[in-house]
Amino acid sequence: MILVEEKNGVAWVTLNRPEVRNALSRDLNLQLQEIGASFADRIEVRAVVLTGAGDKAFSAGADLKERKGVTAAESATYISAIWGAINEWADIQQPTICLMNGSAYGGGLELAMACDFRIIAEGAEVGLTEVRLGIMPGAGGTQRLPRLIGEARAKELIMLGRRVSAARAVEIGLVHEMVPRAQLRATADRWIADIMATAPISIATAKSAIERGYGRPMTEALEIESECYQRTLFTADRDEGLAAFAEGRSPRFQGR
Ligand code: COA
Repeated sequence: MILVEEKNGVAWVTLNRPEVRNALSRDLNLQLQEIGASFADRIEVRAVVLTGAGDKAFSAGADLKERKGVTAAESATYISAIWGAINEWADIQQPTICLMNGSAYGGGLELAMACDFRIIAEGAEVGLTEVRLGIMPGAGGTQRLPRLIGEARAKELIMLGRRVSAARAVEIGLVHEMVPRAQLRATADRWIADIMATAPISIATAKSAIERGYGRPMTEALEIESECYQRTLFTADRDEGLAAFAEGRSPRFQGR
């Protein structure tokens, strides 16, 4: 259901159910959660890329066929699986890139929003379509989308279940970059090269400061920033960064 390949410090994770547009079944979600958790403290993994098989969709969201016939009471296990998977991905300490090979709807877009960076193929579409299906976004969508694009635009997308083009998604700040499909991989490699130029502890603690501080009162948020900053202070990589600057060379970070 999911393919994982690790190469040169990058984990490439591919949702592999193209025949159902990479819909998120309960079993797929359980596997996705396990994979998300597996990167914890693996300092040699510098970046995680999540993509989908096929050229139609990154993910069409919750597996609607699987949900059909499931009672409201039984649906709890399905909902907790998707919720668990998406939140586990938001918690990955390494930088995460969602390489959106096609459209993303519902839980598929919620999963993309749990990643740090989103690159999308030209011609794709995105939307939180749940209200048109008699439900509502339930795996972080109502909270992550307003944080990403502001409340007004988020209400438009969520409350109307509107699907928007990849170009519009970039325009409103939901997606970082749109490229022709053939350039997806090269674009990801460019983002990865930028990640590789950073110190592993620095990029992880900066991510954590943003994630934990965002939306909190400023004094509390600044305390979180300060706590995260402290973690970079006594690292060998800090010394290496300063030495490399003084010597006019590129730093060689080791993640310690
Ligand atoms: N769950 C389960 N199966 C899904 C699915 C989903 N979310 N989305 C698509 N599929 C299945 C289709 O039923 C179809 O199966 P079939 O071949 O057995 O008939 C197959 O995937 C291909 O779908 P199809 O609609 O023919 O492909 P498409 O490329 O023309 O369109 C989408 C793809 C994603 C645009 C379209 O399927 C769609 O709108 N899906 C619903 C998306 C959505 O609203 N998700 C929110 C979930 S909360």
